Amino acid sequence: MKLSKEHRYIFGNWKMSQSLAAGRDFFRKIDLKFKENKKADQIELGIFPSYPHILELVNLSRELPVTLGAQDCSNENEGAFTGEVSCSMLSELGATAVLIGHSERRKRFKESNELLAKKLDRALEAELLPVFCFGETKEERESGQLERVLKAQLEVVKTFEPSILLAYEPVWAIGTGLTASPQQIEETHSLIASWMPKSPILYGGSVKPANCAEILGVSEVHGLLIGGASLDPDGFSQISRLALESLAA
Ligand code: PGA
Repeated sequence: MKLSKEHRYIFGNWKMSQSLAAGRDFFRKIDLKFKENKKADQIELGIFPSYPHILELVNLSRELPVTLGAQDCSNENEGAFTGEVSCSMLSELGATAVLIGHSERRKRFKESNELLAKKLDRALEAELLPVFCFGETKEERESGQLERVLKAQLEVVKTFEPSILLAYEPVWAIGTGLTASPQQIEETHSLIASWMPKSPILYGGSVKPANCAEILGVSEVHGLLIGGASLDPDGFSQISRLALESLAA
């Protein structure tokens, strides 16, 4: 997958929310007939299902312009790590990308910067594209710590530029229906771009067909990481088409 701020990345994070049957149905129903459009090559689509579904969904997506990724990976290559899944195993399945540092993992599994740096190394060694997720809590934003918090989270990825994608996801906007305002997104994305000028930046947090065009119109927004709304094949198809229109505009 090409990394460029001229491209638009539309990624669906299915979390632990989709059965294999529903995943199969999704790939039967998505409607991505925009190949004839001159800018279609600039739209990069990705779905991040649960580990056990990756292989079958890779096979189902062969004819589609959709890449498959994983929601996490081990920070180790191989060995006695019960329950872990290595990046090389993910590559073998046909995954081409991996989410690293999603806030649900940072919170639940206390993933530290040090651990995330190791995961980034493993991903790049296995030629997986890392999508590095980060963002502030409501309390951090309201107490004026936004800049400090984001800077600290990004400290770990600086040396990985220009080989990664960034996904800014305010924790308070994830799964809450509360999207950051275009002004908040613009301010935050331009701050991030001033620190990491070469990396495309995705926005995530309650993105849906009704608000995606406005968000994609904000400067320094190069794509979307979508949770709930990406489970619906019509919604995902619609967001992908609107992303293409946003490039043509
Ligand atoms: P949401 O999730 O779109 O359901 O808010 C986004 C994410 O967690 O990546």
